Amino acid sequence: GPAKKESWGSMLGVILAVMGSAIGLGNFLRFPGLAAKYEGGAFMIPYFVALLLLGIPIAWLEWTMGRAGGQKGFHSTPGIFRVIWPHRASPYVGFLGLIVPVGIYMYYVVIEAWCLYYAYQYAIGTFPLHDGATAYQSFFADFTGQSANGILFGFEHSNFIVFLLICYVLNMIIIYRGLAGGIELVSMIGIPVLFVSAVAILVRVLTLGTPDPALPEQNVLNGLGFMWNPQTESKSFLESLSNGEMWLAAAGQIFFTLSVGFGVIITYSSYLKKDDDVVLSATTSVAGNTFAEVALGGMITIPAAFILLGPAAAGGGTFQLGFITLPLVFEQMPIGSLFGFLWFSLLFIAAITSSISMLQPAIAFFEEGIGTSRRASVTLLSFVTFVGTVVVAYFSKGLIGLDQMDFWIGTVCIFLLATIQVILGGWVFGADRLIAEARKGSVLSLPRWIAFVIRFVSPVYLIVVFIVWLYQNLGSYIETLSNDDSARMTFLFILFLSGFFITLIAQAVRRWKRQAGEER
Ligand code: PHE
Ligand code: NA
Repeated sequence: GPAKKESWGSMLGVILAVMGSAIGLGNFLRFPGLAAKYEGGAFMIPYFVALLLLGIPIAWLEWTMGRAGGQKGFHSTPGIFRVIWPHRASPYVGFLGLIVPVGIYMYYVVIEAWCLYYAYQYAIGTFPLHDGATAYQSFFADFTGQSANGILFGFEHSNFIVFLLICYVLNMIIIYRGLAGGIELVSMIGIPVLFVSAVAILVRVLTLGTPDPALPEQNVLNGLGFMWNPQTESKSFLESLSNGEMWLAAAGQIFFTLSVGFGVIITYSSYLKKDDDVVLSATTSVAGNTFAEVALGGMITIPAAFILLGPAAAGGGTFQLGFITLPLVFEQMPIGSLFGFLWFSLLFIAAITSSISMLQPAIAFFEEGIGTSRRASVTLLSFVTFVGTVVVAYFSKGLIGLDQMDFWIGTVCIFLLATIQVILGGWVFGADRLIAEARKGSVLSLPRWIAFVIRFVSPVYLIVVFIVWLYQNLGSYIETLSNDDSARMTFLFILFLSGFFITLIAQAVRRWKRQAGEER
């Protein structure tokens, strides 16, 4: 039968659930990786500009439109878009709000399993490896199956499969328990635990002093300077700022980290009551995520690598920093194994409170669109996401499957969805109506100039950034598609997934029309 009506337990619970979604691997791996890549301080300028002009306005907009859609009884983007924009195409445009979170889940859960596995390595004493960077390098390459496609499914890699299955089962149990009893409960416990352990690690890093007296340059102050100083020795401040790619990366990071532009917040806020404060909730969760990213993620990882291993070690990509450099850093610290265990447990908690949020939009859609029960919805979604994860894990050579999913879904589709949402909010729903709607039940009222930002600044910013991005990157990705079978197979899977959701949306539209007819 149809699922019973869902709702949140408390306002604090909703805010923590949204923070749980927001605070994730983006804060502790992706952000430090980008900041290091673009030389620390300079990156912070486009980052804060994107936070103000895209992140915060679109977060307000999603919370407000979600609550409005929920009042009409819809909890998924196809349903909510249809309420906001009564046009035949609107529910189909809403397919982006399903494929984005579901598609990201398919590879996010893989990284979640790595984190759990690394925490376990510290717990059983395999780590530290005590054999230099290459030891961690080959451990990581081997565990993630980077030497050849398909090897993760061989017997010698059964560890990976076991940890992946553990993550799958945990995610599905939490989702099955529903909003208040699952997502909200886990976030109410997880987020405080996460903040406390992150602060403990931060204090440890900031009290490292000058660990090697022979290398007086490698001290805490210089470590923080390396992270925060916009001026580097090789480049002037303005020179760094003229890098277009950095502006794109900063905007992408803002969406990723805030869980904005994913269809997740719109679903979460659709379960609010009509007078629940959306402005305060949105603002609080943005602030919490920014603190976790800038003050915790950013001040732990890069300074630690700089202080203990020197400036050369503080760079490297996302996975390099988190899975290779940091284990090496913990090796150099007193009681480093304990901190290693804490760090990867923290990453795992951050990851699981985010991955559960990626599942809720599709669950809501199955329940309201095709009328399946909670049990059937969770089963169907487990099956679909597992097929996707198998695709990602199978094409493990050089992590190509993960990379493809992250580009097409985690980058291209996010920009599309965010642009569509901001146009729907600013022009179709109407910026003034949006501001009036947001004011209901809220102690703060949105400043009037925000209407101008939502109508003009955000969409233009998004479209410009997106076009520049496509111009710079699309060519190489298309070339990869035509040269590389693994990339092509992953891409075909994405098309297949799109077809799956579009078919179900057609089904849902018929059902919603029938229901509207019965009500009349
Ligand atoms: N915001 C999460 C992070 O920073 C990632 C995420 C993306 C969560 C999409 C939910 C939806 O890691
Ligand atoms: Na985040």
